[in-house]
Amino acid sequence: MKIAVIGGGSTYTPELVDGFARLGSMVDELVLIDPAAERLEIVGAFAARIFAAQGHPGKVSWTTDLDAGVTDADAAVIQLRVGGQQARITDETFPLECGCVGQETTGAGGLAKALRTVPVVLDVADRIRRRAKPGAWIVDFTNPVGIVTRALLDAGHRAVGLCNVAIGFQRRFAGYLGVDPSAVVLDHVGLNHLTWERAAYVDGVDRLPALLAAHLPEISDEVDIAPEVLTTLGNVPSYYLSYFYSHDKHVRESLGQPTRGQRVAEIEAVLLDMYRDVNLVEKPALLGERGGAYYSEAAVGLLASLHGYDDSAVHSVNVRNNGTLPFLPAEAVIEVSARAGLEGPATLPVTPLPPDMSGLITHVWAYEELAIDAALRGGRQRVYRALLAHPLIGQHEYADALADKLIAAGRQHLAWA
Ligand code: G6P
Ligand code: MN
Repeated sequence: MKIAVIGGGSTYTPELVDGFARLGSMVDELVLIDPAAERLEIVGAFAARIFAAQGHPGKVSWTTDLDAGVTDADAAVIQLRVGGQQARITDETFPLECGCVGQETTGAGGLAKALRTVPVVLDVADRIRRRAKPGAWIVDFTNPVGIVTRALLDAGHRAVGLCNVAIGFQRRFAGYLGVDPSAVVLDHVGLNHLTWERAAYVDGVDRLPALLAAHLPEISDEVDIAPEVLTTLGNVPSYYLSYFYSHDKHVRESLGQPTRGQRVAEIEAVLLDMYRDVNLVEKPALLGERGGAYYSEAAVGLLASLHGYDDSAVHSVNVRNNGTLPFLPAEAVIEVSARAGLEGPATLPVTPLPPDMSGLITHVWAYEELAIDAALRGGRQRVYRALLAHPLIGQHEYADALADKLIAAGRQHLAWA
């Protein structure tokens, strides 16, 4: 199987390559594609060393030529970042001026990222469709994953969106329970970066209530959400929900502090220096300071299932709703647990949601609809309307000011601005 990785020059790529090297016996060719030639050279050579050191017989190559790289691919992983960390730092900063959270996928920063990213991913996907094997899957890690996946599916692509939040919980819960991660099946539900773990089944028994009772302080710390929220809901929200449940606290704590993007830029510079070392043959511990833990295992597992190697594994994926959440339209993209086979993912049933959760999901879904419209058609009015619809913004004065700031900051990446 040939796999193309678009955005393969990312400093994250060794995480993905490590997963393929250890678990991806079905992969015989891995092509890393990235326009940043110098970085790609460093990451590509390192990726080849990881494969060799693990004794994986597959071929690793790299190219700046997207069309050549995706030719005859069986699957493509898209993990690009339009505008690099600099654009991210801007997304994390401008909303704070209006007292709104500055985050790369949530709130106004997430909208800015969606606007500059959706057109680029759609263009990449068209080129994949023209040159990859017929029926090749696109696995999208590019944020905001829910919005990007919806745009891909609406354009008729064979795409699944993936995020590592659920697999992180699965690993963590398995560790607490002392069982193999594959034995833990999560009732994971919501929209990308707006999800809750509502059950953790082991042999058909929900162990989440016991886990919450035994590990409440650690779990609450990990997701940065007060224990009372977890006990009230009786579930585990992802840490992205802390931007909703503790919005103003995040704003206060961010003021005057370096942003996550600034920290990531520092980590990336050190990582690249490490990757240059020809004696380095495994991913360095420093990579663990990035947020992408286990994303390789999520990708390898999903790709194996989509290619018919494993139809029993459960993955958390971004897919069309098609009735899974009865309060959202069929065409909405949601993030839930699913099994997958050659025909694609098939979602597992979701326990009916209480109104506080279905209400918030619906509110953010409405924002996402408007965000996609703004990303596809552009225009200040559409940007303003999406901001006005976002539960973390929602007021005219903020939406109005943020629309101007977003467009001014992001103009170079917005064809219509
Ligand atoms: C988690 C999220 C990803 C996000 C990443 C950020 O893995 O699921 O969607 O890209 O965190 O990590 P970073 O190290 O870039 O802050
Ligand atoms: Mn994610």
